[in-house]
Amino acid sequence: MTETPAWTALKAAAKADGARRIRALFDAEPDRLEGLTFEAAGLTLDLSKQPWSREGATAAVELAVAAGVEAARERLFNGEIVNLTEGRPAMHMALRAAAGADFKAAGKAVSEEVEDVRDAMQDFVAAVRSGMAGGATGRPFKSVLHIGIGGSDLGPRLIWEALRPLVPEIQLRFAANIDGAEFAAATAGLDPEETLVVVVSKTFTTQETLANARAAKAWLEAKLGAGKADSHLAAVSANPAEAGRFGIAEDRVFAFRDWVGGRYSVWSAVGLSCAIGLGWPAFEGLLAGAAAMDEHFETAPLDANMPLMLALAHVFNRNGLERPLRAVVPYARRLALFPAYLQQLEMESNGKRVTQGGLPVSQATAASVFGDAGTNGQHAFFQLLHQGTDIIPVDFIALAEDHEGPKSHRNMLLANAIAQAEALMIGQENLNEPHRHFPGDRPSSFILLERLTPETLGALIALYEHKTFVEGVLWDIDSFDQWGVELGKVLAGRVLRELDGGDGPDHDPSTAALIARLAR
Ligand code: F6P
Repeated sequence: MTETPAWTALKAAAKADGARRIRALFDAEPDRLEGLTFEAAGLTLDLSKQPWSREGATAAVELAVAAGVEAARERLFNGEIVNLTEGRPAMHMALRAAAGADFKAAGKAVSEEVEDVRDAMQDFVAAVRSGMAGGATGRPFKSVLHIGIGGSDLGPRLIWEALRPLVPEIQLRFAANIDGAEFAAATAGLDPEETLVVVVSKTFTTQETLANARAAKAWLEAKLGAGKADSHLAAVSANPAEAGRFGIAEDRVFAFRDWVGGRYSVWSAVGLSCAIGLGWPAFEGLLAGAAAMDEHFETAPLDANMPLMLALAHVFNRNGLERPLRAVVPYARRLALFPAYLQQLEMESNGKRVTQGGLPVSQATAASVFGDAGTNGQHAFFQLLHQGTDIIPVDFIALAEDHEGPKSHRNMLLANAIAQAEALMIGQENLNEPHRHFPGDRPSSFILLERLTPETLGALIALYEHKTFVEGVLWDIDSFDQWGVELGKVLAGRVLRELDGGDGPDHDPSTAALIARLAR
């Protein structure tokens, strides 16, 4: 695909900006901080430490205009088919809209159905939390074992770790991987009599999830007796018939539709375990925070639009300055899983190589994302961020107010976050001792949450969802499919048959040797 004039202009602007120091841009542009600081839904985003000048940022906004981001956003919110290869809308916004909304998916009204499922969830949450819905022996549930993988795991796990009480009344455990060690760890110390198992799978065909669900049923029945596990099982799926065939009672199956992508699904019944563990008001708060970000994204002008400007800053680095990596560092232990969550959101959504029209893309697409909580990351990979040969932009995330632990820690934690962003940008010259020289000019974004609440967490996740969508529009790719995961699944099925002793096709010598060695 040939490059559009807007892309060429962005790259020219980035080249010019790349020759200037970020620090010097503050002197050249007295209103830089104000112009590049954005407020929405309880979040503040500072993009002034990004490498763009005013002209560079303007070229980026013009790229968004030329790429038709506004029209694409309208199509998204109107529930049009934006996932072309699967012929589906992507209506995660409908799931978090306040009661009385009127969203459509492919022309069909969906808000009423969304609210019905939410009501059923709320009733179930109340019943479990009050002890009304208990186990086979009449004991209330003290634990929820959440079984699911990818989008059916990462969101609930992130939300639980971010918002969980330190000593929960109902604890959540997660089993995602098809690794016996994971199942063993997830069930260790749990009493089946007091455990509710929630099986979450959009398709209800995922190998790992079904194997873990079967293991969980066996684990329950080993204590409760054969056929006695029904009251301990619930399911969440866009394929409720398959959940029924698995043996989960109809009134325990919470459905969502295929117009929600797995990695955008935590707002649906996929969040059921979190709602049980955290209580319904917390789950509602999460939805409300995301809905506030939706409203901002849908209505704010482009140059004041937080998800859009965050996307443009990333694209400026990725395409304008050819930086293929990005680090995400939350200075909040409770958000330590956020980089892992973003890996699926961004890399599964935008790790694509053909356009919506099936042609090779004209621009590099998603950056690889990695990260860990600060300050831990400082003592691990920050050496490379400061002095490595690649320039890796960083997203810093921090909380203005904390509410737990020793009070004296707050300032130390925040001082580190602020200082790292500053150090990356300003560097430190030391020509006599090259190993002590910090080149600086390494860009970052700084996201500040007033406090970590269900609302601000919902807004933060929705911010990244929408910025991922904007990037997909700029790159002209389908952000809502994930065909790249299919080949490995098919080959795993074949290899599994061979490990189990069956015949298989010809393999390369390396693959054949591994199978021969490990088959039993
Ligand atoms: O294999 C990738 C994937 O399809 C993800 O997109 C999805 O979130 C995950 O698997 C789990 O799928 P499911 O919810 O259907 O079990």
